[in-house]
Amino acid sequence: MPTPTTVAAAPAPNAHYVRLGGHEAVVQLVDAFYRAMDTRADAAVIRAMHEPDLSATRRVLVSYLSEWMGGPRQYTPERGAPMLRRRHQPFDIDASARDAWMACMRQAMDEIGVEPGLRAELDAAFWKVADFIRNTEAKPFPTPPTRTDRS
Ligand code: HEM
Repeated sequence: MPTPTTVAAAPAPNAHYVRLGGHEAVVQLVDAFYRAMDTRADAAVIRAMHEPDLSATRRVLVSYLSEWMGGPRQYTPERGAPMLRRRHQPFDIDASARDAWMACMRQAMDEIGVEPGLRAELDAAFWKVADFIRNTEAKPFPTPPTRTDRS
């Protein structure tokens, strides 16, 4: 009989991780993502934020995305709570950086042939995270003046 730990570690059959194709598919997605980042002109600014050698980052993203998609929980035990906004704070991430990241991920999803329903769900989920990470966007309206001049 399986131990409770074994049961808890098994991804749900409808998890994004399983629907994508498991570990091999996540590795392919991440490889395609960084290939896109290495070659797309619109990704040059975000590529320059990364180390020249992407092998460590590639492994971390595989581990993070596997967990994020409902697969094996490997990232958190190794690196702690994701806190992605905090981890991205050292980088200036505006709307164009967010859009460049999304363009790389969309190209990667197309390249590995993610089925359309899953692609739409992942696209929306990636976008939410990418926009949450954005940290240098100018406010759409000027901040109203403080009313210290009023008695
Ligand atoms: C919005 C645009 C984004 C930019 C410009 C960006 C950029 C970066 C950079 C420069 C690093 C450091 C890599 C290194 O150490 O070599 C990083 C790490 C990371 N990014 Fe992003 N990123 C973005 C969005 C995202 C999104 C949407 C996700 C997840 C869905 C994500 C997940 C990660 C993870 C898991 C790490 C590693 C964190 C760790 O050190 O444990 N990033 N990112």
